Amino acid sequence: MEFIIDTVDLEEIRDAVDHLPIVGVTSNPSIVKKTSPKDFFGHMREIRKIIGDERSLHIQVIATEADEIVKEAHKIFEEVDDKVYVKVPTTYEGVKAMKILKAEGKNVTATAVYDLMQAYMALAAGADYIAPYTNRIGNLGNDPFELMAHLSNRIVEDGYDCKILAASFKGVQQVRDAFNAGSQAVTAPVSVLKAIFENPSISKAVTDFNNDWYSVYGEDKGLC
Ligand code: E4P
Repeated sequence: MEFIIDTVDLEEIRDAVDHLPIVGVTSNPSIVKKTSPKDFFGHMREIRKIIGDERSLHIQVIATEADEIVKEAHKIFEEVDDKVYVKVPTTYEGVKAMKILKAEGKNVTATAVYDLMQAYMALAAGADYIAPYTNRIGNLGNDPFELMAHLSNRIVEDGYDCKILAASFKGVQQVRDAFNAGSQAVTAPVSVLKAIFENPSISKAVTDFNNDWYSVYGEDKGLC
C-alpha cells in the first residue's frame, strides 16, 4: 500500500513526509499553477532533496505529440534525475511515448485515465503506474472503483509489474474505496490525508484518556 501526495508545496511536502508514511510526490500543471514556482526544474530538484531517492517523484509532461513528449521526458531526466516517473497522459500519442520511454528503460506513470480500455492500453505499453481519476470519473456518472477492480485483476492475472495509482480525490472515503478496489497506491492532496485524523471521536477519546490520567497524577503531568 502506497500513500503519495499530490502537491508541489515545499512546506506541505516537508510536513507530510515528516508525519506520514509518504512514499512519493505527484503533480500536474494545474497543481504547479497553485504554487507557480519561477524556476520549475529548480523547484522539482528541491522536492527531490526533501523526499530523497527512496521516494518516487512523478512529473507530468506538457507536450501532446509522442516525439515531443519523449523530448520533454529527456529534459526532465537531465534537469532533475533519471529516476523520475514521467507522467504521460494516456492519449493515442501518449501511449506511443510510453512505449518509447519504456524501451529506454525509463519510469512511466500513465495519467488522465478515465476509462478501463485506456488503462489496459497503458498496461500493455508497460506503464509502471496507472492513474485513474477517481473523482472525475465519478462526476461523469461512472464507477471508478469498478475500473480499478477490473484493472487490478488484469494486472494480477496477466502478471504485469504495474501499480494502480488512484488519483483525483476529494474525500477520505474515496481513498479508502480505491484501496479496497485493488489500487496499490493513491495520490491525494495532503488536506485529504489529514482529514483521516479529523474525526472528533478521535480527539474526544484522547482528551478523555488524558483527563482520567491527570485526575490521578495531576494536571499536565505526563510520563516524562
Ligand atoms: C494526479 O496527479 C492527478 O493529476 C490529480 O490527482 C488530478 O486531481 P483533480 O481531479 O483533483 O484535478
